[in-house]
Amino acid sequence: MQTKDLLQLADQFGSPLYVYDAEKIQSQYKRLTNAFSKVESVRINYAVKALSNISVLKLLKEAGSGLDTVSIQEVQLGLTAGFSPERIIYTPNGVSFEEIEEVAHLGVQINIDNLSILEHFGAKYPEIPVCIRINPHVMAGGNANISVGHIDSKFGISVHQMPHILRIVANTGMHINGIHMHTGSDILDIEVFLYAAEILFDAAKNFKELDFLDFGSGFKVPYKKDDIETDIEELGKKLSKRFNAFTKEYGRDLTLAFEPGKFLVSEAGFFLAKVNVVKQTTSTVFAGIDSGFNHLIRPMLYGSSHLIENISNPKGKERFYSVVGYICETDTFANNRRIAEIKEGDVLCFRNAGAYCFSMASNYNSRYKPAEVLWFEGQGHLIRERETFEDLIKNQIILNFEAVAQ
Ligand SMILES: Cc1ncc(COP(=O)(O)O)c(C=O)c1O
Repeated sequence: MQTKDLLQLADQFGSPLYVYDAEKIQSQYKRLTNAFSKVESVRINYAVKALSNISVLKLLKEAGSGLDTVSIQEVQLGLTAGFSPERIIYTPNGVSFEEIEEVAHLGVQINIDNLSILEHFGAKYPEIPVCIRINPHVMAGGNANISVGHIDSKFGISVHQMPHILRIVANTGMHINGIHMHTGSDILDIEVFLYAAEILFDAAKNFKELDFLDFGSGFKVPYKKDDIETDIEELGKKLSKRFNAFTKEYGRDLTLAFEPGKFLVSEAGFFLAKVNVVKQTTSTVFAGIDSGFNHLIRPMLYGSSHLIENISNPKGKERFYSVVGYICETDTFANNRRIAEIKEGDVLCFRNAGAYCFSMASNYNSRYKPAEVLWFEGQGHLIRERETFEDLIKNQIILNFEAVAQ
C-alpha cells in the first residue's frame, strides 16, 4: 500500500477511517507458518479479539488459519465467517458456566482456566474433550496490563496446582486433549518463550492423550523503522527443534498451536484522521484531529506509541506537535512528536492500527464508530460502514413520561 492509496481512501470513504492491507496479513501468516515448517503439524488460531471484522476473519480462513476466541459472540462471528467449529478454540476467563456449555454444544474446542469450572464441566460432560490453560508463572509482556502469566494474574490454572487438576481429571473421567498457556503480549525475548515452553512440556507429561500443545502468543511487532521485534525465525528454529524432540519422547503425534493477534494484523492496519485544528498555546502546538480515544484507545489505556505521519505533506519540514483527540477529557495520542508540518485539513496516518484498535472502539461522547476498508488486490473495499445516528439510538427505548404518569 502506498501513501497515495491511503489519501485516496480517506477522500473516498471520509475520515476517521480504518484501512487494512490484506497482503500484509497474508504475508505475516506465511512468515509464521514458514518459521515452524519443520514441525509436522502446526496450527495458527488467529486471536479474534485483535480485529474481528468478518471479512478479515474470512481472509485468514483462506490463508489456513483457525480462530482463538474469548466470548460466545466471537465464536458466532467465526461461524458466520465460515469456520467450522473444530477450527475454533474458546479460551474464556471468568465467564458463566452456561456460556461455556453453550459454546461446547456448538462443537468448539473448550479451553478451561480455573479449577471450579474444570470440576463442574468434567462432572457434567466427561465425554467432551477439553484443553487446560496453565499459568506457568512467567513474568512476560510489554506492560502490566498485558502480562498475564505471572503469579498475581487471574488467568490460567497455576502449574503448581497440577495435583488438584489430576485429581479432578481422574475423578470425573474427563478427557484432556490439549494444554495451553499465554503469558502476555509484546514479548521480545525468545528465551522467555522457550523457558515457558519447558514448563508446558513438563505439564503435558501428566496427560497421556493430548492432541495439541498451545503456546499462546505475545510476539512483539515493530512500531517504527528499525524497532525491536520478536525474532520469529529464530524462535521457530529453536522451538521447533525442542517441540519435535518432546513429541518423540511423548510417543504420540502432537500439533503445535499458536494464537497470535498482533503479529498477524497490527502492521496491516492504518488509522486515518483529519486535522480539525492546529492550536498554538504558550507551551505546545496541538494538532486536534476528528477522532479520539473512543476510536483508538491504546495510547491512553496503556501508553502505546503509534507512529503518526502527515500523509498530506509527507515531505514537509518537521516540527513538534502534540496530537490530541476531541474527547472531553485528556485525550492524547502523542506528545511533542516530530511530524511533517501540519495544516488544518491534513490527513494523519497512525501506523500499527490493525490490532486492538477498532475492536476496542466505543461510542463515548456519542460519536460514531469509523468505517473500515480492506485493501485487497489493489483496491479499497468497504467492510464496515461508518455508524449513523440511527445506529447510536437503535437500542434505546425512549420513555414516554406523560403516558407513564397517567
Ligand atoms: C489468551 C490469549 N491468546 C492470544 C492473545 C493474542 O495476543 P497478541 O495479540 O499479543 O498476539 C491474547 C491477547 O490478549 C490472549 O489473551
